[in-house]
Amino acid sequence: MTLPSCWTFAPKSVIIDGSSPSVILEDPLEIDERSVIFSSGRKLYRSWSFILLLVATVFLFTVRFTSNLKSRRCRILPTARPSTYSPTTAVPSYAPSPRPSDQRLENVIQCASILSSKNIDSKSDASRWKAVEYFYSGGGRNIETNDCANKESFFSTMYSLIVVRESMNIANPTWNDDKKQVSDLLDVCTWKRLHCSSVGGLLSITKLSLNNADLNGTIPPEISGFLRLEAIVAFSNPKLNGNIPSEVGLLSNIKDMQLHFTNVSGTVPTSLGTLSSLSSLRLYDTRLEGVMPQEVCSLRDVGNLTVLEADCTLLQCNCCTKCKNLDGAVLEA
Ligand SMILES: *[C@@H]1O[C@H](CO)[C@@H](O)[C@H](O)[C@H]1NC(C)=O
Ligand SMILES: *[C@@H]1O[C@H](CO)[C@@H](O)[C@H](O)[C@H]1NC(C)=O
Ligand SMILES: *[C@@H]1O[C@H](CO)[C@@H](O)[C@H](O)[C@H]1NC(C)=O
Repeated sequence: MTLPSCWTFAPKSVIIDGSSPSVILEDPLEIDERSVIFSSGRKLYRSWSFILLLVATVFLFTVRFTSNLKSRRCRILPTARPSTYSPTTAVPSYAPSPRPSDQRLENVIQCASILSSKNIDSKSDASRWKAVEYFYSGGGRNIETNDCANKESFFSTMYSLIVVRESMNIANPTWNDDKKQVSDLLDVCTWKRLHCSSVGGLLSITKLSLNNADLNGTIPPEISGFLRLEAIVAFSNPKLNGNIPSEVGLLSNIKDMQLHFTNVSGTVPTSLGTLSSLSSLRLYDTRLEGVMPQEVCSLRDVGNLTVLEADCTLLQCNCCTKCKNLDGAVLEA
């Protein structure tokens, strides 16, 4: 413990009341003779070292039990503890409170879980965890989490962008400079292969030009976070695999989707049939299979779909505008 800085005087007399542990410290300035005596009055000991030891002990008890230690020569410092102060708890113990960074991490994980509609609670989900790290210690470390559940928020847009980057392995210096902080969409619209434009007075990401980019990995559902996306151009990426997520059907402004010459597989989601603004869909030279959904075919009649291309063998398509098979043969529908 730290003694008060005024601890310079030595009590000149200590009276110990028999064998009882309670001690009385008399005003040291009033007593001249340095002596330690039992209550019987018999002098016991005159050694300085013994006196000093007793003095220290007595002081501790005094601090403990005396309500006011003020004397003419000792002023209790402004930081003086209350009279009930006990030396045994002298070491200040600050209650552990979460550091801001821990709170930040918690908030980011919560936002990520909301936006991905699943728990992001471990590092097993590599691309989403990378996005968490981006907001914790990377370029997004200062982006507000307050409004993250709102799909219009900057957090939401950036979350989609980083999950897409990590999931599709977009390797580009402008996309991967995580030391550079971003604070609004203007910082991001300079990234290569990404286009922004003003839609309804709002600056938005409207096009991803990711063709011939040596992409691998999969298209994540989070791509639907780009609310005003008008074009996904990702052709000629033979290592891009996995399904077309049905969430792509949420991209209500999409006009152009080019996924030919990729390794995407599975069936064409029927949700694409809701994309009334879709005018061009190219899906040939892929591993897509099954039948072109009727919902998509009907866009040719009721929507704006003027270009619909598939291989027409692995993926059967009666309504395609052009069939192009894996051997490169082009068959007019
Ligand atoms: C996927 O792309 C990333 C980034 O370009 C690259 O580091 C990685 O080696 C690629 N993996 C495969 C299996 O091609
Ligand atoms: C394409 O996907 C298939 C499985 O669907 C896999 O066997 C093949 O290696 C993949 N091709 C490339 C270039 O990644
Ligand atoms: C269809 O295309 C026309 C002409 O380009 C356009 O005016 C119209 O808004 C489009 N419809 C939809 C639903 O996007």
